[in-house]
Amino acid sequence: MTTTTTPACDFVELERLPDTPTSPADAPTIGDVINRRLGRRGFLKGALATTALVAVPSVAAVTAARPASAATPSFGFAEVARGVDRTHHVAPGHDARVLIRWGDPVLQGAPEFDPMAQTPEKQLAQFGYNCDFVGFLPLPQGATAADRGLLWVNHEYTIAPVMFPGLVPPGMDRIPLEMVERVMTKQIVDIEMAAHGGTIVEVVRGKDGTWTYLKDSTYNRRITALTTEFAVTGPAAGHRRMRTGADPQGVKIVGMVNNCAGGVTPWGTFLTCEENFDSYFTGRLDQSHPEQRNYDRYGVPGQVFAWGLHHARFDVEKEPNEANRFGWVVEVDPYDPASTPRKHTALGRFKHEGAGVIVNKDGRVVVYMGDDQRFEHVYRFVSKNRFDPADRAANMRLLEEGTLSVARYDEDGTLTWLPLVHGQGPLTAANGFRDQGDVVINVRQAATLLGATRMDRPEDVEVNPKTHKVYAMLTNNEDRRPADWDAKGIPATEVNGPNPRAFNIWGHIVEMTPPDQDHTAEKYTWEMLIQAGNPADPATAAVFNAATTADGWFSCPDNCAIDHQGRLWIATDQGNNWPLASGSADGLWALETEGPARGTAKAFFRVPVGAELCGPCFTPDDTALFLAVQHPGTDGVAQFLTGGAERSTFENPATRWPDFKEGVPPRPSVVVVTKQGGGAVGT
Ligand code: FEO
Ligand code: CA
Ligand code: CA
Repeated sequence: MTTTTTPACDFVELERLPDTPTSPADAPTIGDVINRRLGRRGFLKGALATTALVAVPSVAAVTAARPASAATPSFGFAEVARGVDRTHHVAPGHDARVLIRWGDPVLQGAPEFDPMAQTPEKQLAQFGYNCDFVGFLPLPQGATAADRGLLWVNHEYTIAPVMFPGLVPPGMDRIPLEMVERVMTKQIVDIEMAAHGGTIVEVVRGKDGTWTYLKDSTYNRRITALTTEFAVTGPAAGHRRMRTGADPQGVKIVGMVNNCAGGVTPWGTFLTCEENFDSYFTGRLDQSHPEQRNYDRYGVPGQVFAWGLHHARFDVEKEPNEANRFGWVVEVDPYDPASTPRKHTALGRFKHEGAGVIVNKDGRVVVYMGDDQRFEHVYRFVSKNRFDPADRAANMRLLEEGTLSVARYDEDGTLTWLPLVHGQGPLTAANGFRDQGDVVINVRQAATLLGATRMDRPEDVEVNPKTHKVYAMLTNNEDRRPADWDAKGIPATEVNGPNPRAFNIWGHIVEMTPPDQDHTAEKYTWEMLIQAGNPADPATAAVFNAATTADGWFSCPDNCAIDHQGRLWIATDQGNNWPLASGSADGLWALETEGPARGTAKAFFRVPVGAELCGPCFTPDDTALFLAVQHPGTDGVAQFLTGGAERSTFENPATRWPDFKEGVPPRPSVVVVTKQGGGAVGT
């Protein structure tokens, strides 16, 4: 094996970083937590699900009814029924049409999709795979109209056995490990890289109310992992640990990967967030390598994709710094198709889910973010400079400088934001942090050193601009254990107030409230909005408002959106757990947050088997809702396949949604939902 090809770099000695504290000895027991929570607000209000009270009475208290707010009218639609089948379903009185599918032409002159004749060149000009976050900005720039705009769509990752013919041997449902090197050719890998990233398309509403995308718009753009160059801003720009053989200055990165959720800024740009970047790296670093401790915490190399076979920079042994160049929040200006997207390192390097943006009352810009892995943290960025509606160029630099903080949730309902600033507290050279660049590159270790709370997979964190409440989706964490639970090979981990259930396969939603609507304050309060799962099954300890129907409850909240009336919508991702977590397909739910109905969920949309739902995005008038149906036919699909296969392949998929044509594999697609006869969706 070769030794490193990295140029002479001056690594910080991360092997000196202290171990991640797990605080097992003094972690509270479930009983302690319940008692403390009850002590603070140990009362129940009328309309709550009584079945859940038997199991964990404390959490029922936190969905207490409160005075109705005029800011959030209720949801008026009839629900879609529970179930799982090969297609999608929307609430009665609405239409759900496919807008754009994997492989559809994006750039001018791009060919139509031909699954039997894919090439990297074609894929670079066509809609990518696994659509995730969706954002909408009106056209022309600054317009308030809602009938023409630019749609941003993330392409999170690829699933080769379902995308390409002939990769899986006949009679099998996966590529055997020993065949990977032969099957995953450079051509296949390059198509995968071209199918990652994001897409911008111009979308318009026709006179009949139907939305389409324009194939010849000059705004249309593909951003990919294969060819797009990114600039770097913030404390890690040019940092010694960002430099590679191809980029000795550490300021120019080719590609972004695993873009999961994102956000939209008030100055008209999209934020798109790199999540599981570890998956793309192969090879092995020596345990004594200075980056090894860093990579252990982030799971690098994840050995999921074979890109390292053909692109040496994805082999950590050949390019040990490359993995430091992924895991960032990226900003894209869609109004300038020639603009260079920027990776903003001031917002920290972790497995970013999304970016919830608000302009604080003093003009500073605040971004809320989750790090989606079991036991990771919730973050907040506050810009140094202030938003100026008259100076877009200055606004475009607001995310380059500011204060990143991480959340500690105390049992008494207090939330404290702990600043991640070099030189403060333990974030010093003695602990391996020489400068702020080291802090943002290794922000997970820094956050844990400060005592941040270890959460149940923080996904979207979104702020409601009408109520100024902030919602954190905690999707699930089956590895959480009571501190005194003793299982061989599984370290005991605490349950705590904001993560109150052991073996949590259902997830929950925490509501955070800044004082006086000040999103830069050090202390907030927090409480539980709902605990997901079946409220009719006491074993789940689920908590919804008792008005929630048998169709209305959900499991595994992942993405969320707040419509322009201030109403909260939840998209779910149960993964392979869906038979256990709910027995029903993923989808979109409406969730009341105010008044006596608080905690009431209603089912609005259901995806085809094996898919998750991503990217709920409303037009400014709420008359259209864009939904991303990701990886149709892949999660937990055994019962839909024939011949004993457990996983879908190109030749034998669990569904051929949305085309349902023999020979055409399932195609991740964006769907647009409208109300029949017009009007706001979900009313
Ligand atoms: Fe890409 Fe956290 O889901
Ligand atoms: Ca997600
Ligand atoms: Ca997900």
